[in-house]
Amino acid sequence: MRSKAVLLFLVLGAFTAYYVYSPIPDDIEERWKLMLTDCFFRSLSHLADFSELLGLKDYMGVMMFITFVERVVPVSDERVQVAEELFSGVEVLMYQPRQERGAGEMRRAIIYLHGGGWCLGSSRMGPYDLLARQLVTELNAVVVSVEYRLAPAHHFPVQFEDVYHVVKHFLQVDILDSYKVDPERVAVSGDSAGGNLAAAVAQQLQLDPEQHVKLKVQALIYPVLQALDLNTPSYQQNQHMPILPRTLMVRFWSQYFTSDKSLFWSMMANDHNSPESAALLKFVNWSAFLPESYRQAYNYSAPPIAANETPKGSNGPVRSMIDPRASPLLVPDAVLRPLPKAYVLTCEYDVLRDDGMMYAMRLRQAGVDVTHEHYSDGFHGALMFNIWPTDFEIARRMANNYILWLKENL
Ligand SMILES: *[C@@H]1O[C@H](CO)[C@@H](O)[C@H](O)[C@H]1NC(C)=O
Repeated sequence: MRSKAVLLFLVLGAFTAYYVYSPIPDDIEERWKLMLTDCFFRSLSHLADFSELLGLKDYMGVMMFITFVERVVPVSDERVQVAEELFSGVEVLMYQPRQERGAGEMRRAIIYLHGGGWCLGSSRMGPYDLLARQLVTELNAVVVSVEYRLAPAHHFPVQFEDVYHVVKHFLQVDILDSYKVDPERVAVSGDSAGGNLAAAVAQQLQLDPEQHVKLKVQALIYPVLQALDLNTPSYQQNQHMPILPRTLMVRFWSQYFTSDKSLFWSMMANDHNSPESAALLKFVNWSAFLPESYRQAYNYSAPPIAANETPKGSNGPVRSMIDPRASPLLVPDAVLRPLPKAYVLTCEYDVLRDDGMMYAMRLRQAGVDVTHEHYSDGFHGALMFNIWPTDFEIARRMANNYILWLKENL
């Protein structure tokens, strides 16, 4: 009996160790903390899969647990005044400094878009609330944090449109004036899917002939920028990295566009391109737009083109995929050239690293002033790990550098 118990104990122990252990590169700091954090995320993801399998609750519904757990009630304090408002029918959190202004002095503003793969997250999560307060106090700025609607309840372009309506509303001279914001010092910024929305908004505003107030800068934190090639070197290198494994990113992409599961499987196989997207592959050609050190270990082959497999009437996702409001990397240089000054943050251990690297390179080649900050020990989502118990030193470094850039450029 005893030996059976010991055996059972050993098997369970080995199983737990195997489950908790995930290979994490040596140069990432606080590896054990990241391993445990990742174990939690993976467990939740497995639970979500299981729940969907049993028909209890869909995958994203279970994953929303993280968003709910981290939810706070944003309250005003002695330094920051917070209010919930509606801009063109979309909820926003307005963070304003209490600090006195000099006579006639106008403030900077940052429109911030949270991450979460267009499916998860909220401006009301503790990490975003904290970041907004830091921006307010360190830059004496107004922060507009946008509560756009999420997939799978709402698909593309709802997320983009919610954000665009907010930005258009805010960038009116009388509205800016009512918040004492200088129309020449407004930024759009976001992380991950929020970085995608920020890049898309910056492009669409520039193309809008009726838009008079322009953005001064765009600050993109490990942004998602293209859906056509999901096998870039960074997708290959980091497919099993913590926080955002490739399967989760593919799930986010496919659910952004549709609830039809077949898109997920074809995106997993990277054979989701069609004759309609083929002509745009040149804009995401990583053998042309990645620095040599990042591509030399990989052989480029363009994603295969499925010959007219898309059944009639169901080509919605194909249309969405090639839409620059979803994939801002898919525009010609002429659209990039007039864009505002950019800050692009990338992390080495991130499937999205090459999206950011290619955008930084293409913007620069088009003549845009770009600051590209690459964290060689960074992992996806790091900036949001800024509160206990998942507080990482790298989050503090990233926030400081990001805020410093805004101080100098906004
Ligand atoms: C990608 O770029 C390489 C090198 O610049 C070029 O040889 C190749 O034809 C390009 N392929 C596509 C699909 O754009």
